[in-house]
Amino acid sequence: MSERTQAPRGTFDVLPDEEPAREAIVREAQRILGSAGYRRIETPIFEATELFARSVGEATDIVRKEMYTFDDGGGRSVTLRPEGTAPVCRAYVEHGMHKLAQPVKLWYLGPFFRREAPQKGRYREFFQVGAEALGSDDPAVDAELILLLADLLDAIGASARLRLSSLGTPDTRAAYRERLTAYLREHEDELSPDVRERIDLNPLRAFDASDRGTQRVMARAPRLFDALNDDDREHFEAVTAMLDDADLRWELDPSLVRGLDYYTRTVFEFESPELGAQSGVGGGGRYDGLVEKLGGPPTPGCGWAAGIERMLLAAAAQPTPVDGVDLFVAFAKPHYRREAMRIANEVRQAGLHAQLELAGRSLKGQLKQADRIGARYVAILGDEGAQLKDMESGEQHEVEVGALPAAVLRQRPGG
Ligand code: HAM
Repeated sequence: MSERTQAPRGTFDVLPDEEPAREAIVREAQRILGSAGYRRIETPIFEATELFARSVGEATDIVRKEMYTFDDGGGRSVTLRPEGTAPVCRAYVEHGMHKLAQPVKLWYLGPFFRREAPQKGRYREFFQVGAEALGSDDPAVDAELILLLADLLDAIGASARLRLSSLGTPDTRAAYRERLTAYLREHEDELSPDVRERIDLNPLRAFDASDRGTQRVMARAPRLFDALNDDDREHFEAVTAMLDDADLRWELDPSLVRGLDYYTRTVFEFESPELGAQSGVGGGGRYDGLVEKLGGPPTPGCGWAAGIERMLLAAAAQPTPVDGVDLFVAFAKPHYRREAMRIANEVRQAGLHAQLELAGRSLKGQLKQADRIGARYVAILGDEGAQLKDMESGEQHEVEVGALPAAVLRQRPGG
């Protein structure tokens, strides 16, 4: 036997038994976002590499080392999308969506790719559901988006803590960055080599460091939140007032660092204790300069994304709706196979779920199979016509073959 090929590291198969729980999450997302006027958008799986370099940021881990980038064969560099906000903004610009009524509210679902070290809750291909609202800087947009994600997590039974902060405007950030860089330089010898190396490149990431020395330095570091201007502070307070009105609990976390560079003002993350090291189940924020950076008109924006796999890990009970089989069509002799096929087809066309014998089992084996898949009724085709067996009561009676769909429909609750 030749050696088996396996799925690439950090990727996974979703087996049929695992699918219902994922579908349940997607259904909830669709229901909750749809009920707030968000409409689904789909963008390509790969994009021009430059899109992510320009938006997510050259200095971020994602762009520096986690992207799957390749030549498309025509000398253009393309990248498997590591996130969805930049593609949605690109689509907004490309399709002139600024001409629509604002804000334009969009949601998406699909696979994303990051070359991260795989572990529980962290994969190289993962699924995100995300929501973006473009064209309004009203704090109500931020608050509504946060409430929608909180609703989604609630609906799937995931308990999560909401951390919230504001990053202010790019100007405030630039001034703060200088102060922080100077502070880090003063304490250079107490920092981990990795942080030290990136003082100029990305000083904010020092807040994310896991080594004790850096953490001690960062506990006393100047904080961006304390440097916000009045407008930004007012915006933040308006957001949190609306969260309070909705009785949503949140915690101010001025050290909240998101791994993407496009954020301005509000940033947030929902964390679940079920996830261990990968505690972020969903997060996002405001990105008021991004559309303009991608060649569009000045357009504020805000949004979030949540990982399907992390939501599954964070959900207490896995919601698994039962997909009932109405009828299993069995037959005593192979001779009846064509008739069984015709009946199964007809029953499906009547809107029922029907399966037929496909593996040449004995009649006894077929009844066992019907039981295994939870069929409500079994039609048994034989020389004496058709019998309809009720698998719950065990009762069996003769039916006209042509009357089978009607007979099953009639026996159904509400039929
Ligand atoms: P992000 O925090 O990088 O934000 O990712 C959002 C969510 O995607 C995370 O909270 C997590 O649930 C999931 N996720 C990220 N990386 C992985 C991974 N390697 N394996 C499994 N799940 C993962 C963004 O992507 C932004 N685009 C969110 C946003 C939308 N901001 C504004 N609008």
